[in-house]
Amino acid sequence: MQALKTIAFFNNKGGVGKTSLVYHVAWMLRELGLSVVAADLDPQANLTSFFLDEEEIEELWERNEANTVWRAIRPLYEGAGGLERIVPQRPDDSIALVSGDLELSRYEDELSRAWAECTDGKARAFRVIGAFAEVIRQAAAQVEAAVALVDLGPNLGSLNRAALTACDHVVLPLGPDLFSIQGLRNVGPTLRTWREQWAQRRSKAPPGVFAPEGPMAPAGYVMMRHAIRLDRPVRAYDRWMAQAPGAYREAVLGEPEEKLPPIEHDPHCLARLKDYRSLMAMAQEARKPMFLLKPADGAIGGHQTAVAECYDDFLDLVRKIAKRCDLSLPS
Ligand SMILES: Nc1ncnc2c1ncn2[C@@H]1O[C@H](COP(=O)(O)OP(=O)(O)O)[C@@H](O)[C@H]1O
Ligand SMILES: [Mg+2]
Repeated sequence: MQALKTIAFFNNKGGVGKTSLVYHVAWMLRELGLSVVAADLDPQANLTSFFLDEEEIEELWERNEANTVWRAIRPLYEGAGGLERIVPQRPDDSIALVSGDLELSRYEDELSRAWAECTDGKARAFRVIGAFAEVIRQAAAQVEAAVALVDLGPNLGSLNRAALTACDHVVLPLGPDLFSIQGLRNVGPTLRTWREQWAQRRSKAPPGVFAPEGPMAPAGYVMMRHAIRLDRPVRAYDRWMAQAPGAYREAVLGEPEEKLPPIEHDPHCLARLKDYRSLMAMAQEARKPMFLLKPADGAIGGHQTAVAECYDDFLDLVRKIAKRCDLSLPS
C-alpha cells in the first residue's frame, strides 16, 4: 500500500469552486479504484452537505460520538485528554468523510496560541497543531485510503495554517477575475511563509511528539470558468486567465514571471473546467457527482453527452493531480 498523500484545495477567495472540486475529485478517485478520505475542515461544512442530506446531518449531530472533526478534537481542546478517535461517515464504501462542524471555528484562538508556543518546543502546542493530521491519518487507516483531500475555508487564518501542516500538496482553484489573481498574490507568499515557519517549528518538536511533515507543496492551479459573470464581455476573462501562469509562478513558486506559456500549455494549470450549468444543480440534488448522473436523476437527452464529457474532464484532472502529487493510480 502506498503512503498516504494528503492534498489540500485552498484559496483565500470564496465561491471559486473549491468544495465542488474536492467532492468531484474524491468521487473520481473512487471511480479509479482508490479509497479516499474527504476531510471537511471548513467550519461552514459545505463539503459535508455535498455528501449528506439535511436529515443525515441532523442524525449525525444527534449521535453522541466523535463523528465530526471538532468532536474528535474537543477533548484535546478542553484539556481533558487527547483526541477522540474520529468516526468518519461513509457515503460510499470507498469514501471516508471527516464531517465538518460549525463549532470548529472555536479552535482558532487556541491554534493561534499553539503556533506561537511551538517555537518553545511545547509538546501540547504540537498536539494542538498536529490534530488535523492525526484525525486524517485515523480516518485513512479505517478505509485503507491512499489519498486524503482537504477542503478549507477561504481565509488566511490560524485554522487553515494548522490544517495545512497536515498536507503534502496544495491545489489552488482560481476564477478568471481580478480577485482570484490578486488573491493568488496574497495566498502564494503566505503559503511560503507558513511552510518556512512550520519547518522551523517542527525542528523544535520534543522527541516522541507527532509533528506532521507539512510540506504544503504547490501542485498547480485549476481555472474554474463557471465564475464568469455573464454581464461582462468574454475578453475580460481571457485577460485574467492569461495572467494566471505569471501570477502563479511569481506568487506561489517565487519564480520570475518570464518565458510564460499561454495558460493552455501551462504545466501548472491542471485544468480549465467549464461551467457545467444545470448539471451541477442536478448533482447536488441527486447527491452524486455530475459525471455519474443518470437519466433517472434528470440528466436526459443532451445532458448525457454533457455527463460523459464531464467524466472525461475529471478523469483528466485527476490523472494530472496524481502525477503532480506522485500518487499512483490503479491501472
Ligand atoms: N464547474 C462548475 N460549473 C457550474 N457551477 C459550479 C462549478 N463549480 C462550482 N460551481 C458552483 O459555484 C458555487 C460555489 O462553489 P463552491 O464549490 O461552493 O465554492 P467554494 O468552496 O470555493 O466557496 C456553487 O453553487 C457550485 O455549485
Ligand atoms: Mg467551500
